[in-house]
Amino acid sequence: MVRIGYIIGSTAEDSINQKLARVLVDQAPEQAEMVHIPIRHLPLYHRDMDAEFPQEMTDYKQQVADVDGLLVVSPEHNQSFPAAVKNALDILTRPWGKNIIEGLPLGIAGASPGRFGTINGQSQLRQFLPPLGVKVMGSPLMAVHATRETFTDDGADEQTTRRAASYMEAFVEFVVRHSRVGD
Ligand SMILES: Cc1cc2nc3c(=O)[nH]c(=O)nc-3n(C[C@H](O)[C@H](O)[C@H](O)COP(=O)(O)O)c2cc1C
Repeated sequence: MVRIGYIIGSTAEDSINQKLARVLVDQAPEQAEMVHIPIRHLPLYHRDMDAEFPQEMTDYKQQVADVDGLLVVSPEHNQSFPAAVKNALDILTRPWGKNIIEGLPLGIAGASPGRFGTINGQSQLRQFLPPLGVKVMGSPLMAVHATRETFTDDGADEQTTRRAASYMEAFVEFVVRHSRVGD
């Protein structure tokens, strides 16, 4: 089994990224155990917290430390990734010297009504992650241009569902190849 955590960059009611996350979870290969890691409750990090790291941040870091790979499912905000995602990732690197995402395999997926379906936000995320030691999967991409028809009450249209299945198959393979699973 491979344990894959996922964070969702939107907590909006009726979020299309929560819907996309559900489709990715449903389409994940059987060998993957998918674990939702909530980020909504996390305080906005500042360095004074290092002296006494808040418990909810420590618990969240432990949840990420316990997975073999991490999937970020996020909208784009002003052609970048949302502040909530930046904060959630920053917390994983603090306090100084306690970066727990060094070597962590990471995938990025997102949906937006914009024509390019989060591709700009994903590019920015790709630039920021490698210096932290994260291993980001290069392809395939999972950037969904969402229309009214893309997501249904319990899933997605056929094309999005098929893409989600291919993406998750590739991501699980990537995690197995780049983590210590099976060592
Ligand atoms: C602050 C803000 C900035 C946004 N910027 C973009 C953008 O750059 N590109 C885009 O396609 N959509 C943008 N949107 C629209 C979101 O993609 C849309 O609200 C989408 O439904 C967000 O995903 P969610 O439903 O999972 O919250 C923006 C929305 C907000 C609130």
